[in-house]
Amino acid sequence: MLRSCVLLRRAGTPAQAKRLLSLSAQDHQKVAVMGAAGGIGQPLSLLLKLNPMVSNLALYDVVNTPGVAADLSHVETPAKVAGYQGAEQLQQCLEGCQLVLIPAGVPRKPGMTRDDLFNTNASIVQTLSEAAAKYCPTAIMGIITNPVNSTVPICSEVFKKAGVYDPNRIFGVTTLDIVRSNTFVSELKGLDVSTTSVPVIGGHSGITIIPLLSQTQPSVSFTDDELEKLSDRIQNAGTEVVNAKAGAGSATLSMAMAGARFGSSVLKALNGEQGVVECAFVKSDITEAGYFANPVLLGQNGLEKNLGFGKLSNFETKLLADAMGELKGNIAKGEDFVRNN
Ligand SMILES: NC(=O)c1ccc[n+]([C@@H]2O[C@H](COP(=O)([O-])OP(=O)(O)OC[C@H]3O[C@@H](n4cnc5c(N)ncnc54)[C@H](O)[C@@H]3O)[C@@H](O)[C@H]2O)c1
Repeated sequence: MLRSCVLLRRAGTPAQAKRLLSLSAQDHQKVAVMGAAGGIGQPLSLLLKLNPMVSNLALYDVVNTPGVAADLSHVETPAKVAGYQGAEQLQQCLEGCQLVLIPAGVPRKPGMTRDDLFNTNASIVQTLSEAAAKYCPTAIMGIITNPVNSTVPICSEVFKKAGVYDPNRIFGVTTLDIVRSNTFVSELKGLDVSTTSVPVIGGHSGITIIPLLSQTQPSVSFTDDELEKLSDRIQNAGTEVVNAKAGAGSATLSMAMAGARFGSSVLKALNGEQGVVECAFVKSDITEAGYFANPVLLGQNGLEKNLGFGKLSNFETKLLADAMGELKGNIAKGEDFVRNN
């Protein structure tokens, strides 16, 4: 009874309290955010702190984690927050994690491509992946750090080297491309954004981002000019934010929302919820690239079924053909980095 009252106060409505009560102990998950003191890390951690499926929130960074953890720990939700700083605390941070989200690394400044981040971010993702492979080898990995097209293969190669590789547990988080597409399409067509759904396939940089506007739900038609302009805007939406921030970084708030949505979907699926689908960049034989983003069904072991991408329009077929060279190059660069280091 006391627990119900506390949950009702925390949840706000009886329905939300019932949902919290219905979660059994195993439905509550330990989630780590690596790079938690950063522009994405902080709002992402806040959104995870508000998620009733999170029992323990482990925040890791190389700077400022104690302050972020102390601040977040005062938020009146059940998740227990702990801050970890420095390599010697990686074990404590990662042990027992079901989900590890990695937004650690440098963001773009105006004029930079995501690939320009490779030299700095590749080794950061490699180091954090090595720690995850050692301390929580069965956790679901969600890689946010750019260039995602290369950092996901880096994580995979590290897990292979450690002998704990399961391709169904390693995801590149491309959710922001879908979030942006849903927003832009609903604004253009006067749709309800909460029910607008645009799949985005390929990778997560420039021309490798391929919005499937022909598969928009609810079904809607576009002129050739709209297709060109909208696809170009979606492919360059990250740069729109980088330029608007004028040197102060890239998308953080929208990325935190997208990362929290992806994380929440993974947790729902881990808890046995059926029919949870997200687009994500995964190991794949759907195309010759070896990795590819498209809708995937999530389950209790990560990726349950790769749903592919259905029939493409002529316009989308051309976008895909244009993307393949760059996508394959980005993937090979990530794989080679781990093989040579
Ligand atoms: N996947 C996407 O859609 C998407 C969208 C936006 C940004 N990003 C990427 O996310 C990354 C982070 O962006 P941001 O704006 O939060 O950057 P930021 O500089 O604000 O934060 C990065 C954080 O990572 C930390 N860090 C650096 N090295 C680390 C290490 N070895 N271990 C742990 N933490 C470490 C830093 O201390 C910092 O707190 C960038 O690579 C950016 O390009 C991805």
